[in-house]
Amino acid sequence: MTRILLLGGTTEASALAQALAAAGKDAVFSYAGRTDSPVAQPLPTRVGGFGGVAGLVDYLRAERIDAVIDATHPFAAQMSRNAIEACARAGVPLLGLERAPWVAGIGNRWVHVDSLEAAVAALPDAPTRVFLAIGKQNLAGFAAKPHHYLLRLVDAPDAPPLPDCTVLLARGPFEAEGDRALLIQHNISHIVAKNAGGTGAEAKLIAACALGLPVILIDRPTLPTRRVVGSVPEVMGWLSHADLGV
Ligand SMILES: NC(=O)c1ccc[n+]([C@@H]2O[C@H](COP(=O)([O-])OP(=O)(O)OC[C@H]3O[C@@H](n4cnc5c(N)ncnc54)[C@H](OP(=O)(O)O)[C@@H]3O)[C@@H](O)[C@H]2O)c1
Repeated sequence: MTRILLLGGTTEASALAQALAAAGKDAVFSYAGRTDSPVAQPLPTRVGGFGGVAGLVDYLRAERIDAVIDATHPFAAQMSRNAIEACARAGVPLLGLERAPWVAGIGNRWVHVDSLEAAVAALPDAPTRVFLAIGKQNLAGFAAKPHHYLLRLVDAPDAPPLPDCTVLLARGPFEAEGDRALLIQHNISHIVAKNAGGTGAEAKLIAACALGLPVILIDRPTLPTRRVVGSVPEVMGWLSHADLGV
């Protein structure tokens, strides 16, 4: 039977894990270990980095992995790059499961930027109130601007991540109505977000649109070319193909 490594950390990865388990597939789910209480999976689960490309190559060989599905977050670029390189070296087929990015519609006030630094620069210089919805990593650079930042995190931080901030503890998916109330309650004037795509994190963009607020949207990092699909059934179809090459 084909033995699968599923790189997770997203809603899509959890949905794929359900489908693999339901189909009786031999698969291992892998978490980076970023959150204190990750969502339980219906598959054998390992936690923690592999040790770069070389470590992943060793893992693929030791565990006799026949196929890797990269269902990590679109901004988890290091893991995705490592998977491309390691699978090429080990001769293991790789498939990305990736949600489409968000596309602006009528009424969206989006400012597209290509980096965290550009997102900081795109914020006003005068103090205001910003919903900084980029997770817990890479927050420090935003201290360069004198704003009050609203942060929504899965785990409580050990110390305040920014000098002037409010930390909310919550795990998605979120609803547009709830996010609209949140933006009003905290008197938010700007939102900073990553172009993650999908429905679970889209609520803040819908809410921002309803309130006419600007969103500074960070573009996805670019990856080397790889085979990618956008849905769980497409992954299952690929896995059922004998040589995994198409
Ligand atoms: N970045 C985001 O905005 C974001 C948002 C939501 C969820 N996530 C999830 O959180 C995890 C970490 O994201 P990140 O941005 O820190 O990733 P990253 O910068 O691409 O990865 C850094 C290192 O973490 C380890 N790693 C990442 N994902 C892993 C996985 N699924 N299994 C085992 N090791 C993993 C790898 O360590 P080694 O080099 O030692 O193998 C990787 O080189 C990902 O699994 C991602 O799906 C990320």
